[in-house]
Amino acid sequence: MGDELIHRFRRARRDPALAVIEGFHALKHALRFGAELIEAVAVDPELLEALASELAPDLAGTLAVRVEPIDDETLAAIVPLVPRTGVVAIARRPRADVAAVLAARGPAPVVLLEDPRNMGNIGACVRVAAAADAAALLTTGEHDPWYPDAVRGAAGLHFALPVTSIQTLPESDRPLLAIDPEGEELAPERLPARAVLAFGTERHGLTGSLLERADARIAIPMREGVSSLNLATSVAITLFSWRLAAGHAG
Ligand SMILES: C[S@@+](CC[C@H](N)C(=O)[O-])C[C@H]1O[C@@H](n2cnc3c(N)ncnc32)[C@H](O)[C@@H]1O
Repeated sequence: MGDELIHRFRRARRDPALAVIEGFHALKHALRFGAELIEAVAVDPELLEALASELAPDLAGTLAVRVEPIDDETLAAIVPLVPRTGVVAIARRPRADVAAVLAARGPAPVVLLEDPRNMGNIGACVRVAAAADAAALLTTGEHDPWYPDAVRGAAGLHFALPVTSIQTLPESDRPLLAIDPEGEELAPERLPARAVLAFGTERHGLTGSLLERADARIAIPMREGVSSLNLATSVAITLFSWRLAAGHAG
């Protein structure tokens, strides 16, 4: 039973149909946004109930019954970095329909990350995209945005909006804005509705082909001498500039 469980959780980390959720806060968000849980294990299921009563009353009374108790040793064998709250779960990844996302008529922007490399950054981008109520977060490149470290960095908010990797951005009628330090200064009130906001890879920025394709290039103003902001910080500033200017706060 212990070995089987360890193998299931290890396999799930590499399975593109599944998501591994580590820690109470990630599990809380996953469940709140409709995750289909396959299995969950915890060292102390009662602790989860206590945390839910304190921090997530909407989930109180629902957690202990859904988790299988395990010991510390088994937990350490199924996750590289043991979460302090001692809980790990496997859920099915929701399917993201990219064509439907791009065709949606609502004003919310789509975030496109070109070839992001850092899992913590990807997680932080998903978290802020969920908080700003973005329409979706898409990534290009070889890194899976659902890798467990990214889900952990996003506190489980991958379940709050469509998140998926794509080969290239399909054509659509959405305005494409390249968010780039060499662009024109950001004017929040001029950010259009339904934009695709494209951000570049951590080291080299946006690709030439994306820059050529873009309808506009937008720069976040910085103090002289600073060459760029962190990727997730740039996503946060741009999304909340749009959201506050468009009167979507709250
Ligand atoms: C760490 S930066 C990449 C730095 C890269 N050397 C460059 O000059 O683009 C990662 C991404 O964050 C965004 N970014 C960072 N600072 C920015 C700024 N001041 N204005 C607009 N976008 C910015 C861009 O999308 C950039 O491609």
